[in-house]
Amino acid sequence: MLAIHSVPPLPRISSSLDGNRARDQEASSSSSIPTPGKIRRLVLSPEGRTKMNSSPDRDFYSFPRFVTHVDDGFISTLTDVFRERLKPGWEVLDLMSSWVSHLPKDVDYKRVVGHGMNAMELARNPRLEYFFVKDLNLEQRLPLEDSTFDAVLCTVSVQYLQYPEKVFAEVFRVLKPGGVFIISFSNRAFYEKAISAWRDGTSYSRVQLVVQYFQCIDGFTQPEIVRRLPGNLDNTTSPLTWLLGLFGLSQSDPFYAVIAYKNFKPI
Ligand SMILES: C[S@@+](CC[C@H](N)C(=O)[O-])C[C@H]1O[C@@H](n2cnc3c(N)ncnc32)[C@H](O)[C@@H]1O
Repeated sequence: MLAIHSVPPLPRISSSLDGNRARDQEASSSSSIPTPGKIRRLVLSPEGRTKMNSSPDRDFYSFPRFVTHVDDGFISTLTDVFRERLKPGWEVLDLMSSWVSHLPKDVDYKRVVGHGMNAMELARNPRLEYFFVKDLNLEQRLPLEDSTFDAVLCTVSVQYLQYPEKVFAEVFRVLKPGGVFIISFSNRAFYEKAISAWRDGTSYSRVQLVVQYFQCIDGFTQPEIVRRLPGNLDNTTSPLTWLLGLFGLSQSDPFYAVIAYKNFKPI
């Protein structure tokens, strides 16, 4: 059962971790603490959660990176997925965001809320109406009300979560029934900050890992997997690109998305 929880409205710009902590403490001292989705089982072992670089994530993300972490082909596939799955007028949460959200430019959403680790990156993101900064490896509760969002996005970042079960349970809580959670990733990462279960895996096992993150929460629908691999005939119009892909010489980033809905998939 989900308890109704009210937190103060998010400020338009939340620019510091300390501000975030203060808000969290305020929220946790309230008597109506929200109930996240029920975690059926833990997916990761303690060893699987470890990172090579165990310094605070706050330090690693303290300076802004105004770069794109994947290539144009990946981004264009992702934007197509968003166009297909997200409806105009929706409320969207871009979890683990930066200065770009990769949403289709010509689609208007009612509200896009951003979360990330660097306030300067988030402040420059033109799609965000609000944002907040929070280290999800320190504490997983999202300072957001229950059943608020039609869609939650997590782009090329899931590999950094050390407690994905709790984060997915929180995403379940803040999604509206029928809302969608879209996780996308490629074969790139800040290696030292990715968890060992990710680093030691293959692209196949990483997809399965994210499937398990969904399956460990009561109430997500069976996850769907979208793959666009370099050299896929159905993904490539250029014969040269196809040929390069065939011999493993393609430079383009493989695209994977794992997608599931809260309770049911709307038709
Ligand atoms: C590779 S960037 C991807 C940013 C963005 N989603 C994009 O598509 O450009 C990884 C992001 O993961 C987020 N992140 C990494 N570690 C985190 C942590 N401990 N808590 C919360 N977010 C984290 C940060 O927002 C960081 O910008």
